Amino acid sequence: MVNFEPQSNLLKQQLSEATNVDGSVNLESFLKLVDHAYLDNINELKQSRDHLIEATNQASRAARVSGMAEVATNVLHNIGNTLNSVNTTVAVLVERFKNTKFKHFDKLAIMLEQHEHDLNDYFIHDPKGKLIPAYILELAKHWREQVPLLSTDLIQLTKNIDHIKDCIALQQSMAKSAGMLEPTDLSRMLDSIIDLQAKEFSANAIKIIKDYQPLPQLMLDRIKLYQIFVNFLQNGRQSIAFSRSNERILHIKIESDHAHFVSISMKDTGIGINEENLKKIFSHGFTTKKDGHGFGLHYCANAANEMGGKISVESDGEGLGATFTLILPYQLVDYGEANAS
Ligand SMILES: Nc1ncnc2c1ncn2[C@@H]1O[C@H](COP(=O)(O)OP(=O)(O)O)[C@@H](O)[C@H]1O
Ligand SMILES: [Mg+2]
Repeated sequence: MVNFEPQSNLLKQQLSEATNVDGSVNLESFLKLVDHAYLDNINELKQSRDHLIEATNQASRAARVSGMAEVATNVLHNIGNTLNSVNTTVAVLVERFKNTKFKHFDKLAIMLEQHEHDLNDYFIHDPKGKLIPAYILELAKHWREQVPLLSTDLIQLTKNIDHIKDCIALQQSMAKSAGMLEPTDLSRMLDSIIDLQAKEFSANAIKIIKDYQPLPQLMLDRIKLYQIFVNFLQNGRQSIAFSRSNERILHIKIESDHAHFVSISMKDTGIGINEENLKKIFSHGFTTKKDGHGFGLHYCANAANEMGGKISVESDGEGLGATFTLILPYQLVDYGEANAS
C-alpha cells in the first residue's frame, strides 16, 4: 500500500511556506512544491511497483518449487512403496531359502563320495543308500516347484529395483532438463507414470480405461508433462477415493488431429466440482482437502502455458466426476534432411 501521508504533510507545510503574509499564495513556489510532492509520489509508486514485481516473481518461484516438491514427494512416496515390495519379496526369498530341501544336498554328496567304489551295493543293500534314489526324485520335484516361484520373485525384485533407479534418474533429470523438448512417446510415458501409482489405484478399487490414439513421437517437455500427469492422476485418484460411488473409473484419452494439437484428458467418476470451485480451481493455494496444498493445478496451468498449451476442466457438479484436459501443440520430431526424401 502506498502511504500518501508524508506527501500531504509536506504539501501542507510547504503550502504554508508559500503563503504570503497577506494570505495570498506565491504561485510559483507553490507549483514547485507540487512538483516535488508529485515526484516523491512517483518514486514511492515506483518502489511499490518494484516490490509488487518482486513479490509476484517470488510467488511464481514458490509455485514452481512447490510443483516440483509435489513431484519430489510423489517420487519419494513411490520409492518408499517400491522398497516395501522389495522388503516383502526379500522376506519371502529368505523364508524359501530357510525351508529349502536342498540344505542336505552336501550330506548326500558326501555319502555318494564315500561309496564311490561300491555304489551298486550301497544303493541296493545299505539302509541309508536305498533311500537315495527316492530322495533325489523328491529333490527334483521340489526343484521343479521352486524354480518358477524363485524366478517370479527375482523378476519382481529386479523390476522393483529398476523402478527405484528410474524414479531417482527422473528426479535427477528434472533439475537438468527442465524446458527441453525431447522426442516423446506419449502413451508409453503415461503408462509408466500409471504403473508408478498402480498399487494406489488398485487399493482404491479404481479401474483405468485407456483410450490412446496411436501417435508418432512428439517433441515435448517431458519434465513438465511428467509433473502435469502426476498431478492429474493423483487428483483423479484422490477424488474417486473420496467418492462413495460404485463406479470407480479413470478414463484416460489421447487424441490428436495429427496437425495442430494433441490432447490428453483424464475423466474420473469422483466427487466432482461445483460451479463456484470450478472458477478457483487453478488459483495458487486453492484446496478443498484437509491435507492439501492447492499448488498442483496452479503449477500445471503455468507449465501448460509455458509449453504453448492449455489446461481446462469440466464437471457437471458435485458427485458427477470431473474431466481435466491438457492440450498441447502437435510438434513432430525433425529427423533432419538426411532422412528426408
Ligand atoms: N479430479 C478432481 N475431482 C474433483 N476435484 C478436484 C480434482 N482435481 C482437483 N480438484 C479440486 O481442485 C483442488 C486443487 O487441486 P490441486 O491444485 O491439485 O491441490 P490439492 O490436490 O493439494 O488440493 C482440490 O483440492 C480439489 O478441490
Ligand atoms: Mg493435487
